[in-house]
Amino acid sequence: MNAGDVIPEKWRNDISEILIGSTQLSKRVSHLAQLISTDYESQNPILLVVLKGSFHFASDLSRAITVPHELEFIRAKSYQGVTTSGNVHIQHIDETKFFGRHVIVIEDIVETGLTLTQIYRSLKDAHAASIKCCSLLEKVTSNRIEGSPTVDYIAFHIPDKFVVGYGLDYDQAFRHFPFIAVYKSS
Ligand code: IMP
Repeated sequence: MNAGDVIPEKWRNDISEILIGSTQLSKRVSHLAQLISTDYESQNPILLVVLKGSFHFASDLSRAITVPHELEFIRAKSYQGVTTSGNVHIQHIDETKFFGRHVIVIEDIVETGLTLTQIYRSLKDAHAASIKCCSLLEKVTSNRIEGSPTVDYIAFHIPDKFVVGYGLDYDQAFRHFPFIAVYKSS
């Protein structure tokens, strides 16, 4: 654990434990960046960053990728508090940007796979040349919907708990933590 991986006093009632420290995060992000750099050499892929949760992850990943790539962003929202609404609101995808392009969807966490399913549908409609997903976290859960896309690059598998930090929020709070922590009431 890094010296900064300490739950500040004022949040000790909200956070039960640090699940993944900042050193572990940066090691795995570098490793995934290496894999992507090897797999996408000369393909100039687009990293499609799903906001807001994956912004820290995408920023660190993009800076560690050593081959040319571009960045695009979309907004998606499904959670209210610690429960999924079951509906995903995804901002309209400008299809012209993705026609014939290799796309890597950058997610913070995949749980049911609903968000990913909808994004893949739009990218297929846009005739992307290929679509893969790189997710910081994948939740080990029985909630995964059948037939949802496989995640190609995963930094960590986590248990079925509600987590915050490194971009992930509880009602917009805790995104700034440099580590991933378990939210207490989950
Ligand atoms: P899915 O569509 O069920 O796969 O959920 C993906 C989205 O739900 C993620 O992009 C997050 O925004 C949100 N989400 C799922 N689990 C968590 C969690 O433990 N903490 C914070 N957000 C979560």
